[in-house]
Amino acid sequence: MPAPDLGPVFNARACADCHQNPVSGGSSQFTEIRAGHLDKDGNFVAATVPINDGASTIANRSIINDRALIPQAQERIPNTENIRALRAALNTLGDGFVEAIDDNTLWSIAQRQIELSNGRIHGEAVEVPVLEAPGQSRIGRFGWKDQHISLLSFIGDAYLNEMGVTNRLRPKDVTTIGKITLDPEDVPDNLGLADIDHFAQFIRGTKVPPRGAALAATPVSQAGEKIFETIGCATCHVSAIVTAPPRTSINGGAFTVPEALGNKIIHPYSDFLLHDIGTGDGIVQNPPEDTANKLRTVPLWGLRMHPRHMHDLKSLTLEDAIERHGGEAEQERDRFGRLSAAEKQALFTFLNSL
Ligand code: HEC
Ligand code: HEC
Repeated sequence: MPAPDLGPVFNARACADCHQNPVSGGSSQFTEIRAGHLDKDGNFVAATVPINDGASTIANRSIINDRALIPQAQERIPNTENIRALRAALNTLGDGFVEAIDDNTLWSIAQRQIELSNGRIHGEAVEVPVLEAPGQSRIGRFGWKDQHISLLSFIGDAYLNEMGVTNRLRPKDVTTIGKITLDPEDVPDNLGLADIDHFAQFIRGTKVPPRGAALAATPVSQAGEKIFETIGCATCHVSAIVTAPPRTSINGGAFTVPEALGNKIIHPYSDFLLHDIGTGDGIVQNPPEDTANKLRTVPLWGLRMHPRHMHDLKSLTLEDAIERHGGEAEQERDRFGRLSAAEKQALFTFLNSL
């Protein structure tokens, strides 16, 4: 259902326009634009975009919206913003479990990677603010840059940045050009819950993307899983993580892990840490600056619903996605390159069972 208070600038009319495959909350082939430039000291500066024939600007925001309610508000990247990137929509199913992972669990995964690879692989954890608990921060785990830690924070951001719907966490639209509504547009209903609260409840109530059980049970897929582990893919695409115990207070005290999400083993095939595998998009969303060319290990659960791969969706086969791994993942990519045709096929069969 389209939001009534869309825009003035926006990307799509509903969360499910972008998060749909195969059910609401999944991912899709949608990409969105980010842009910026480097200042004279080499630090990233998010884009400033002139609109309304240069009479106004939208400043300090790396996201560039693809749509507007009226032509005067339409954003277009100026030539000066010469760092430009595409970002794919991400799966949100099962993200309540990801939110419930203890920070220390992510730290110990990072530590183990360093030991396993003699320092070659070193996932970076970034501390990001919890919007609903001002002054508090936690280890980011959502978004391609780990730019958010809590689902509510991400959702408040998404409601504004994807749809132009202002809410208690993001109370101001980025321009007044074409604006006719009063802020915040997302107000509590008769249950006392705003849309952003309902979205968070929805996502926290979803199950993780299920395995393709028939394929997963085949000897070929199981052989592929072994290969995935032996050649080192699982160093970053971590196969099992245990969530924090029920009743743990997280998100700076704003959320308590419920029974249904606590102490559960999940199989995300991700470490939720940032790595430079040579595909970085140059964008910095949270300090430090060295995150510019890093991306979060994308979780591989639900992979079989993705016909296009990587943050920019520019890989149209699994083989191409794996061959684009360089940097911290160069050795694993080379080991993949040395597999026999049958071994590669087994690996793809395993990946297609996720
Ligand atoms: C125009 C397409 C689009 C719309 C509409 C949209 N999203 Fe997204 N969503 C994305 C993209 C793209 C990303 C990845 C963003 C990034 O990291 O750069 C994303 C990421 C997310 C994530 C992080 C998932 C993870 O595991 O890291 C959540 C949560 C999310 N969106 C929720 C929502 C909600 C709730 C809405 C509706 C208020 C919404 N999105 C609307 C495109 C969209
Ligand atoms: C150093 C950490 C690291 C290692 C090791 C690693 N990956 Fe990745 N992988 C990543 C990151 C980071 C991304 C996202 C990069 C991007 O989107 O540009 C990714 C993305 C992918 C994707 C794309 C998924 C999608 O749909 O977008 C696949 C498939 C994948 N990896 C498989 C593998 C396989 C197979 C191996 C072993 C040969 C491997 N990876 C080793 C970090 C790693």
